[in-house]
Amino acid sequence: MSPVVVTVDGPAAAGKTTTCLALADIFQMEYLESGRSYRILALEVLQRGIATDDHPAIVALCDDLIEESRTSGLLTAGRYTSQDLRSSAVNVAVSAVSGIAELRRRVTELVRIWAGGHTRCVVEGRDIGTVVFPSAPVKFYLTAAPEVRADRRVAQEGASSYEEVLEDVIRRDRADMSRAASPLVPADDAVTIDTTELSLAQVVEHMASVCRSRG
Ligand code: C5P
Repeated sequence: MSPVVVTVDGPAAAGKTTTCLALADIFQMEYLESGRSYRILALEVLQRGIATDDHPAIVALCDDLIEESRTSGLLTAGRYTSQDLRSSAVNVAVSAVSGIAELRRRVTELVRIWAGGHTRCVVEGRDIGTVVFPSAPVKFYLTAAPEVRADRRVAQEGASSYEEVLEDVIRRDRADMSRAASPLVPADDAVTIDTTELSLAQVVEHMASVCRSRG
């Protein structure tokens, strides 16, 4: 039987992870952060000194990592720390890496295989409702003003400077929205929530009520 998938897409630091975890808790669903696989690939590219425009080498690396991790290890591999995956260098490299169409096809396949192993799940990313699960019964697109997203990210992570975070958020949004391969756009049937003026509890309640209304 196909899994029931709730998709949550949106720009950087829109609160996708926090709200997905809350939904997963409320509805007892499995949760997957698809951006992690792009971050792991970007980190490996940097660590191996591969140029971010060397697409054939990056795709070959991706195939090696998938082979090494056998199942869906690239999505959930625990050997990477959040600190490494969220460094400024990875934030920059991930935009280039995630623009490679061949690589996106592989990650899409991994996400679908992962979801196939669960009955209900919530998956966050940039193209989950548009490309990965276009037939998902419940889709959300979360957004907020870039300044508010940067503020929340700084409050969450503590040390980073607001200006740097804002610059990174704006740069990544531009890259994700303008790339040729699965650009970030709301799915036609997504419920868009602008969280600029909303509390986390209000956003989660809104999302939960949409999920309940769709059964
Ligand atoms: O979600 P997160 O901000 O960790 O994602 C890091 C990057 O991975 C994004 O800026 C985007 O370039 C890429 N990504 C993507 N498609 C997804 C998830 C993430 O292109 N489904």
